[in-house]
Amino acid sequence: MDQLLFLFLSSIIILFFLLHAIDLHRKRRLPPGPPGLPIIGNLLDLGPKPHESLDKLSKKHGPLMTIRLGRITSVVASTPDATREILQRNDEACSGRVIPDAVSCLPDNDVALAWIPANESWRTIRKALSTYLTHQHKLDTLRHLRQNVMEGVLDFLRQKKAGIEIGKLAFAVALNMMSNTCMSQNVTNYESDDIGGFKTAVKTVMKVTGKFNLADIFPVLKPWDPQNIGRDAKAAYEWLDNVADGYISERIKHRESKLQRFGDMLDSLLDYSEANEAEFTVKHIKILLVELFLAGTETSSNTTEWAMTELLLNPDMFSRVRKEVATIVGEDGKIQEAKILDLPYLQAVIKETMRLHLSVPLLVPHKTETDVKLGKYNVPKGTQILVNAWAMARDPRYWGNPLGFKPERFLENEIDYKGQNFEFIPFGSGRRMCPGIPLAHRVVSLMVASFVYHFDWKLPHAREEMDMNDAFGLTLIRATPLIATPTPVVQNT
Ligand code: HEM
Repeated sequence: MDQLLFLFLSSIIILFFLLHAIDLHRKRRLPPGPPGLPIIGNLLDLGPKPHESLDKLSKKHGPLMTIRLGRITSVVASTPDATREILQRNDEACSGRVIPDAVSCLPDNDVALAWIPANESWRTIRKALSTYLTHQHKLDTLRHLRQNVMEGVLDFLRQKKAGIEIGKLAFAVALNMMSNTCMSQNVTNYESDDIGGFKTAVKTVMKVTGKFNLADIFPVLKPWDPQNIGRDAKAAYEWLDNVADGYISERIKHRESKLQRFGDMLDSLLDYSEANEAEFTVKHIKILLVELFLAGTETSSNTTEWAMTELLLNPDMFSRVRKEVATIVGEDGKIQEAKILDLPYLQAVIKETMRLHLSVPLLVPHKTETDVKLGKYNVPKGTQILVNAWAMARDPRYWGNPLGFKPERFLENEIDYKGQNFEFIPFGSGRRMCPGIPLAHRVVSLMVASFVYHFDWKLPHAREEMDMNDAFGLTLIRATPLIATPTPVVQNT
């Protein structure tokens, strides 16, 4: 009898655990993925170009795939349908962020727009930004400042008799266009280096944040900072934080003196702060300024460098852009920002550059804020979400001759980068989509149009010898810098 009771009770207990295990398995049914090694998971599968490796793996494991890196479980989307499931149907649940160790060194990162969850505080900051950055009319009022920046660069280039690194120059231009939009002044020059200045600080943060950091996947290593990423990020962030603080204090004094307003983004943000003191303070503005410089400069200059690379390799396209720009140049021989934004061929060249050389290949990683059902899978709260925008922009199912540079394709279709066409989302999609599109559109268009219209460019090697490799980081940069010698063109306008 005792034996029978024991058997009965143990069967019930086993059944209970079995049902519980099945239930847990059902609840946590993650998408399939490559088997990983103990502790490191799929780390060795990624290699130096994770966007390419993930693309290859997804061909075997599916459009929604799970990979594991140390303690981080990630779900990777590689097709428009899988991406729509994440960024459209489950946008809110998938709108969190995984904060890299390097970013935890940003002072006051609890109010950093790009890194906090999409909560009330995040909405307030996006609202504050929308009073200027996504407001076409406001951007228009200070376009003369960006044009002045461009005139300064053209003067600099006219003196140049040797090859220049176009990406480096574009980076300095993008910084000054950003600083003029934000606070009506230049922050750097066009000579090769301003060691210790703005350029160095922004570059350092971009470099260390884009580096593969062991401390991110093995948090026990954080206190040791084995690659000195935290140390370098902290120094650069603190420098930027101090400088932003200085600009804001100076502006507050200027506003108190009742002198004429600048009417730039800083004025807009201070107005917003005065009207919403409780939730948007000077601390928010300071971090926001730092973030805008970080998010907006390398992405824009990198796109410009790739666009110039493709145009220098394709002289017919270069001439076509120049002819098109010539149709809107004023009698003073200057290019007006407002007039180039709708030039169809120039815009097609820029879109095609963003497709083929997608600046942020895996977007900025998202994170699930709750348990969420993605298609037939159950993904638990806290899972990292990677969207392989790079793979979709080169997928032959959506693009004819996907590896060819063919701007004409964008003259023939209606595809845009506003987040509705999931095969082409260089700025992301959904609530975390890039708020800088209108400014990026202006900055990149102005640089490409001006470089092409005002100069002939000579490469130091034959076109066939151009290195087209890219290097993975926070943005997908050229592996070797584009160098070319400018010769001013005398236009008959
Ligand atoms: C060609 C230029 C640019 C590209 C390709 C680009 C791309 C992106 C991408 C892919 C994201 C992440 C979207 C996501 O998480 O799903 C992003 C976020 C962001 N971008 Fe841009 N961006 C560019 C220029 C700019 C500019 C000029 C600014 C500011 C002036 C800017 C500010 C931001 C900010 C603040 C975020 C974070 C938004 C959030 O997390 O809520 N970007 N950008």
